Amino acid sequence: MRTVSARGGVTLPVIGFGTYTLNGMQGVAALCQAIESGYRLIDSAFNYENEGAVGAAVRSCGVPREDLIITSKLPGRRQRYEQAVVTIEESLLRTGLDYLDLYLIHWPNPQVGLYVEAWQAMIDARQRGLLKAIGVCNFLPEHLERLERETGVAAAVNQIELHPYYPQTDALAYHAEHGIITESWSPLGRGNDLLANRVIVQIAASRAVTPAQVVLAWHVTLGAIPLPKSSSGERQRENLDSINLTLSTGEVDRILGLARPDGRIADQDPAVYQEF
Ligand code: A2P
Repeated sequence: MRTVSARGGVTLPVIGFGTYTLNGMQGVAALCQAIESGYRLIDSAFNYENEGAVGAAVRSCGVPREDLIITSKLPGRRQRYEQAVVTIEESLLRTGLDYLDLYLIHWPNPQVGLYVEAWQAMIDARQRGLLKAIGVCNFLPEHLERLERETGVAAAVNQIELHPYYPQTDALAYHAEHGIITESWSPLGRGNDLLANRVIVQIAASRAVTPAQVVLAWHVTLGAIPLPKSSSGERQRENLDSINLTLSTGEVDRILGLARPDGRIADQDPAVYQEF
């Protein structure tokens, strides 16, 4: 599969698999199907309460551990240094794995003001070999710059809300300029009306593909890694197949034209929104 790389050498496939709401035995089955279909980048979080399911799938799927890129995230309530250290260890114990490939700060929670402490704990856990690479989610440029200024270590990845109603072109340009990989959360709009949007449906019909494939190919063309979640094996494969679709500049621009000023799904502005 094609890949994208960050400034520090971290390399990820152009599409990954989202796991939010995939829990328990059903979650393990969905994850195993996804890995069998060919997904290699798996996105989880401490707060999804499914690190156990992710670890069970990794250990039982038959794909060598080193071929998989397993991600989890530090919750907002564990950003104090000592708590962050224990939470990273707890994430690992829940997966039953020896290391995680990528660990992200889930939200900056700037009013709390602890994300630099959390980042230092992640730097130290990487030093101990518990984590291979570290990054963040929902960070604004000022937060990214503060991390690097105060610790000397830049984030390799920033996972942000990104879909055609909220394309975040300024963030994409900033990340590209600074060698930061962009991952897109809710790449399909999390079940809103995006996949029935007239422009998306027209492009899909003209290319004999599905609306989801058009949207995912749009992410890849912009250089953002979409992390679509699906519980269905058929839709997982459909989503993965989108990497074979190349959109024209005209098609990409038409989709960019769907941007809305209030395009966020749940009004989660990282400057003020807090999640613990
Ligand atoms: P399901 O799990 O039943 O497939 P997002 O990744 O943007 O958060 O969106 C996830 C939602 O989109 C889930 O409700 C998922 O449902 C649905 N979904 C995932 N892939 C497809 C697809 N190819 N076509 C239609 N809906 C999809």
